[in-house]
Amino acid sequence: MANKNVLVLAGSPRKNGNSEMMADAFIKGAEKSGRTVHKIRVAALNIHGCTACNQCWNLRQNCIFDDGMREIEPLLEAADVLVIATPLYWSMVPAQVKAVIDRLYQYDPANGAKHLHIQESILLACGETADASDFDMIKKFFTMVSAFNGMKVRDMIVSPATNAKGDVAATGLLSIIEKLGESIV
Ligand SMILES: Cc1cc2nc3c(=O)[nH]c(=O)nc-3n(C[C@H](O)[C@H](O)[C@H](O)COP(=O)(O)O)c2cc1C
Repeated sequence: MANKNVLVLAGSPRKNGNSEMMADAFIKGAEKSGRTVHKIRVAALNIHGCTACNQCWNLRQNCIFDDGMREIEPLLEAADVLVIATPLYWSMVPAQVKAVIDRLYQYDPANGAKHLHIQESILLACGETADASDFDMIKKFFTMVSAFNGMKVRDMIVSPATNAKGDVAATGLLSIIEKLGESIV
């Protein structure tokens, strides 16, 4: 593929926090390699959770919620690579990220009126816990969401013991993440 479109969803409500630094390191690398990258701070958009009204499946119409998801939809539909950069909240993604994932219902491979064509997905996650196994649940969740939507998980990088704003800078992970971004060709 000549120029892969990369969509980076930055999931934290904390602006310029650890997960956004991970997102920005990835973007720096991907842009070095000439990739087209779009970054969206999902918590800055007002995105309603799915209410299972099934209008998108049954009537093949847009979601009943005309909200911040409209900004993400064209980018999702054009993306070749999806990156989710997120803090760990109760061993999971924050509610703002979960709302976006729930709204992927409209792209259901069997029942959706439209489909995603994203080939690869990447998870970048950070959390206060020093125990790397505390990231098992988010990794399992991300793997399931990726598989269901036809995306191959390219990598999942987690940063434990990362709590105060900027902690991730001391982990050595940002240069690894930048290289991962560079490797998207
Ligand atoms: C509501 C809430 C729940 C959290 N739950 C967890 C958790 O379950 N495990 C963990 O390791 N850290 C947890 N944390 C800590 C954050 O993951 C950590 O501070 C992270 O570095 C924040 O990333 P950010 O700077 O990108 O917002 C939680 C923080 C908040 C605000």
